[in-house]
Amino acid sequence: MAEKLIEVKNIRKYFRVDGGKLDKAKARYLHAVDYVSFSVRKGEIFGIIGESGSGKSTIGRCLLRFIDIDSGEIWYEGEKISDLSVKQMKPYRKKMQMIFQNPLASFNPKKTIGASFREIGKVYKVSKDEMEARISEWVNYINLSEDVLSRLPKELSGGQLQRLAIARALLVQPDFLLADEPVSALDVSVQAQVLNLMINLKKEKGQTIVFISHDLTVVRHVCDKVAVVYLGVIVEMGKTEDVYKNVLHPYTQALISAKPKEHPLEKKERILLEGEIPNAINVQEGCRFANRCPRFKEGLCSNRTPKLKNMGGGHYVACHYPIGYEKMMKEERML
Ligand SMILES: Nc1ncnc2c1ncn2[C@@H]1O[C@H](COP(=O)(O)OP(=O)(O)OP(=O)(O)O)[C@@H](O)[C@H]1O
Ligand SMILES: [Mg+2]
Repeated sequence: MAEKLIEVKNIRKYFRVDGGKLDKAKARYLHAVDYVSFSVRKGEIFGIIGESGSGKSTIGRCLLRFIDIDSGEIWYEGEKISDLSVKQMKPYRKKMQMIFQNPLASFNPKKTIGASFREIGKVYKVSKDEMEARISEWVNYINLSEDVLSRLPKELSGGQLQRLAIARALLVQPDFLLADEPVSALDVSVQAQVLNLMINLKKEKGQTIVFISHDLTVVRHVCDKVAVVYLGVIVEMGKTEDVYKNVLHPYTQALISAKPKEHPLEKKERILLEGEIPNAINVQEGCRFANRCPRFKEGLCSNRTPKLKNMGGGHYVACHYPIGYEKMMKEERML
């Protein structure tokens, strides 16, 4: 099994939401990331999925040290990076690159693509010749002609620009890419170009990617492993196929069944999520999904926060009564 590139241990990030007007004892905190742990192995695509506001981007920003965590640890290739100073983080900035949702906003509108690319060489002190070679290699790799280098961002399509944003991130030869909703702003017809590029990067170049998305179809297509987050906590995690075929958490099941039908005649039992996702301000003990959960039981679900447990084969769930639990209990009684 490939070695771990990233290890996140019990990270926590709370945002104070009262603007600091009240004294600390009365402060209200939004638990954006609450004791989250996972690891990403070299050469895999690790997906993070959940509804809007579940904490996906905050996990990503913590991972790249764009924001400081309140507690926990982040390890990168066996080095603890969560305590490093801005200066100490510098070598890691090159190794860890990010792709944003909106490719147009991630390019300077006044600069040609070529100028934006060459600027990266100056920032990271790569020689001119070496940079030209890398630019030409990557523009070819993403199936664009080198004419694009003389164009302005607004003269290109969203799909072309997002592939160029990925190529730009790869110019500094990072070990790790964080892609935060990289296809959500793109037309469905061009999403596949970007997704296939990511899959090829993994297969052909061994690229390690954390892929954030709210689109389950996309995640299933692209990711080797997946973590499902709900209000700042991981509720289910495992190999993508295990999670989809043998879903354990009622939230994951609701997400899967809420996805649009692929065919109008397809019959599918749909469990639609009731109500809006509540916020995670000053959360109490108990399961966060309790108020929307079709499997809710008074007692444990309202009184005790479920821990993320390995149910076998690296398939984790944080639920007191995971799907299949009744069958498991029945079998145990029969033994
Ligand atoms: N700087 C901040 N200050 C206060 N609250 C914040 C801040 N950043 C994020 N939040 C809150 O933290 C929670 C998680 O936000 P986050 O952006 O990580 O969610 P997300 O899963 O990425 O959502 P989306 O799918 O909409 O991008 C949200 O309730 C958000 O409002
Ligand atoms: Mg986000």
